[in-house]
Amino acid sequence: MRHIIRAALVLALVLAGPALAQTVDVTALSASCATCHGPGLEGSGAMPSLKGRRAADIATAIKQFQSGERPATIMMRLSKGWSAAEIDALAAKLGEGK
Ligand code: HEC
Repeated sequence: MRHIIRAALVLALVLAGPALAQTVDVTALSASCATCHGPGLEGSGAMPSLKGRRAADIATAIKQFQSGERPATIMMRLSKGWSAAEIDALAAKLGEGK
């Protein structure tokens, strides 16, 4: 009986693994955006405002920078280091003025 319970636990962990890997902590990464995009992400000088942008639009813009589909001076370099999960988490965190 005990080995069946242990097998079930191992199976549960294996199944939960990919779901857990999706949860990425972007606290430090999102704090870095204000360096350029300004306090409150309201934009500053040549840096566009991210305030009030929808999460889906932020994610799309970053993915387009990453692929080179959308021309950029800076964002294509920065975004190359971000995983798809990080981009989605950043968009969810920063979208709609959060
Ligand atoms: C070193 C400066 C810098 C940093 C840091 C930076 N950005 Fe940007 N961002 C820019 C610039 C400049 C643009 C305009 C496109 C370009 O030329 O790269 C831009 C454009 C964008 C856009 C498109 C906005 C629009 O007008 O559609 C998004 C979305 C974006 N950045 C998200 C982020 C996020 C999220 C972070 C933090 C994880 C971040 N940026 C950090 C400089 C920066």
